[in-house]
Order: sequence, then C-alpha cells, then structure tokens
Amino acid sequence: MSPFLITRTLPEETTDAALRADVRRGLTRTPKTLPPKWFYDAHGSDLFEKITELPEYYPARAERELLIASSADIAAVTGARTLIELGSGSSEKTRHLLDALADLDTYVPVDVSESALTRAGHALVEQRPGLNVHALIADFTTGLALPGTPGPRLLAFLGSTIGNLLPRERATLLSSIRSLLSPGDALLLGTDLVKDEPSLIAAYDDAAGVTAAFNKNVLSVLNRELGADFDLDAFEHVVRWDAENEWIEMRLRSRTDQTVKIPALGLAVDFAAGEELRTEVSAKFRQQVVRRELALWGLELTHWWSAGQLCGLALAQPSAAPWPTQGR
Ligand code: SAH
Ligand code: TRP
Repeated sequence: MSPFLITRTLPEETTDAALRADVRRGLTRTPKTLPPKWFYDAHGSDLFEKITELPEYYPARAERELLIASSADIAAVTGARTLIELGSGSSEKTRHLLDALADLDTYVPVDVSESALTRAGHALVEQRPGLNVHALIADFTTGLALPGTPGPRLLAFLGSTIGNLLPRERATLLSSIRSLLSPGDALLLGTDLVKDEPSLIAAYDDAAGVTAAFNKNVLSVLNRELGADFDLDAFEHVVRWDAENEWIEMRLRSRTDQTVKIPALGLAVDFAAGEELRTEVSAKFRQQVVRRELALWGLELTHWWSAGQLCGLALAQPSAAPWPTQGR
C-alpha cells in the first residue's frame, strides 16, 4: 500500500449541491452571507498561504512559535499514534508536531481543499518515510467519518479556524469532536485571542491587498462553478471588529446598485450601493471562554500555552465523568 492515500468522503455532486444550496440561501436572505469554506479552491488556498506570510498576519507566526515551544510536552502527554488534523491546509506548522510525536503511525489531514491536501501529502511522504498519510477531502461541518487508525489519537484544529464557525456551528463541531474521542485521546485547539482593535483589523486588511483578493476569491468561485457574473472590481473588501461578539467580520461591499446573474440557480441577485455581504467571521477568544466552552462538551482543558495576548493553544482531554450527562 502506498503511504499516501487520499479519500473523498463527499462525492463531487454532493459538494456541488451544497454550494448551490449555500449560495441560494445566503444570497436571498437579508443581510446576505456566504459560508467561508467556499474561499478555498486552489487559488484561494494559495492566497491563504500568502496571508500567512504577511507582516500584519501575526496569528500564523505566533501559533508556529507556540507549536515549537509545546510540541515536546504535547508528545509526552498524549503519546499519540494517530494525528488527525481538521482544516490542515499546507500542514506547514504541523511539521513541528509530526517531528515531536515519536510513536506516530498515521497522519490524517482533513480539508475541503483537494489541492492543498495533495500538495501537503506528497511532500510529507517524501520527507517522512514510514509515516502513513491518509488525507480526507471532507467538510468538517457536516460530520466526520474517520478511518480506523491506532490510538491514542490526537485531534488538532489549528489556525483559529474554529473562530470562523458561527456559535451554533461551533457547538455542533465540538460535540462531534467529543464523540470521536475515547479516553486517552486528546484535542489540540489553536485560538486567536482578543487584543487591541488596530492589530486585529490590520491582520485582516493588509497593505498589500492579499486579504482583499482572498475575500473576493469567493466571488470568482461562484463565477466559475455557477456561471455567475460577479464583477470583482464592483465590490470592496471591508473589515469590522464586532466588540459585542468579539469577532472580526469580513464583508464585501457593493460599490454600486447592481444585479448579479447566477444562471446555475436561475437567480438574479440585487445589490444596493453600499450593501454588504458577510463572507466570514473570525472570533477571538479568552482562555476562560475556551475552558468553559470545552467543558460544556465534556472536554477538560488540561494544558494552555499562550504567546502573551497573541494566540492560545489548548490541550483538552475527554472528561472522566460520563458524557453526555443528560438529565442532570
Ligand atoms: N491549519 C492551517 C490552515 C488554516 S486556513 C493553518 O493554520 O495555517 C483554514 C483551512 O481550513 C483551509 O485549508 C480550508 O480549506 C479548510 N477549511 C475551511 N472550512 C472547512 C470545512 N468546512 N471543512 C474542511 N476544511 C475546511
Ligand atoms: N482562520 C483564519 C482566521 O480567521 C482564516 C483567515 C485568515 C481568513 N485571514 C483571512 C479568512 C481573511 C478570510 C479572510 O484568521
């Protein structure tokens, strides 16, 4: 067997149907929204890699430093034989973890981006002979079917991608993560922390305009996949800090009154001048909030690493108490 296996857990027709349903729902409601997973076609994944190298985008560097500092402890505490990673992208930062996990047998990167998984997987098997890499093309918001691999299992969810989920989606995901973990398994969760507003805004509105291009890429995806006629220049990249929800909102603001046609859906969508389409939230966390939220889902935060107020890395283990504790 080749040490690199890639499995599509969702047939392409299902992905296509999901895109259509999301676009129809999101663009016919007020205010208009689109789910962030559609950013990540091959071009979107490339743009995200560029974002991680921007001077303003501190989370990528800060989390890498945390991983370098904590990997040996994580390896000692978990003794993981399988590392599963949700939203693994390029798996770049993960290499520090892969190097430290001495007993690792299998790495299971999970992502919606086939291009990112293929590139990362081929590089990994070349650099780490003996490691089994079983990549899954899957949407972690719609349930996870993981391959049977040896325990203990460590499930990593890095890059503060959890912050891109809305509260209800976040609850659903944490509950499904909990149900995947057995005693002895662990969750490693990377979160971006609440900090001063100018630093937050700059991280999502860089001077070179890479984040703006990434944000608009979702419109290119709709143009290609659904035959839509979005004019990317007719929209402006907008970033807001929502102090109440403690999240960054990424939006696209229509520069003019315009109608966009989406032939695959038989839909014409009106945008008023100044109207904003929300493309993403990026929630920022505090340690106590992470601890409390994990506890709600039967996960006990046992270790916490942080780089000042920049980013936090939480290690959590399934609570000893029976879970779910229904009726108590
Ligand atoms: N973990 C990497 C990449 C973070 S970017 C890092 O920290 O640098 C977010 C990644 O999650 C992208 O690779 C994107 O393709 C993936 N992703 C976003 N939504 C997803 C979903 N619903 N299911 C699976 N992967 C998703
Ligand atoms: N998880 C990343 C974050 O919230 C994703 C991200 C970074 C992102 N920059 C972005 C998403 C710009 C959309 C637009 O920080």
